[in-house]
Amino acid sequence: MKVYIREKEIQKRVIQIAKTIEKEIGSKEVVFISNLKGSIMFFSDILRNINSNSIKIDFIATESYTGKESSGEIKIVKDLSLDIYNKDIYLVEDILDTGLTLNTLVNYIKEIHKPSSIKIVVLLDKPSRRRVNLNVDYTGFVIEDKFVVGYGMDYNEKYRNLPYIAVLD
Ligand code: IMP
Ligand code: MG
Repeated sequence: MKVYIREKEIQKRVIQIAKTIEKEIGSKEVVFISNLKGSIMFFSDILRNINSNSIKIDFIATESYTGKESSGEIKIVKDLSLDIYNKDIYLVEDILDTGLTLNTLVNYIKEIHKPSSIKIVVLLDKPSRRRVNLNVDYTGFVIEDKFVVGYGMDYNEKYRNLPYIAVLD
């Protein structure tokens, strides 16, 4: 396993994104949604760096991967618990790869939960593998087509606890 993005570098970028979002939201009430499980660390690091008393959080969970390959079929395995009708949403995801997960998720949330707006925040973007077009509002790092783990991301459910991002060999 090789370190790909160091903890310090991740934290620096997370703070930049959090501060930009902080300015954008001001005192407006917004709901941050974490797409489980991969985004947990990014989600909590972003949140703790935003100074606001008007943020609510919620969780949704999708599944698509077995090992290193996306099945292409995205299942919602856990739905939201808050009512986000007419609310402004920030959807936080670990990786944008083919785009199928986020695309399916955004369409599902729009159709079923009808928020007023959705902004997308992703930690990593692998543009070389994109299969659907998607507009992302905030991206942490654009990376090559490598399978990464750590900082929330897994290989068969392991390595999520690493504080840095690594490449599996
Ligand atoms: P997409 O549907 O192909 O865009 O894949 C996005 C989902 O696959 C993300 O939610 C990730 O959890 C997972 N994923 C994609 N690439 C990687 C990787 O390199 N490491 C770990 N998980 C990944
Ligand atoms: Mg995921």
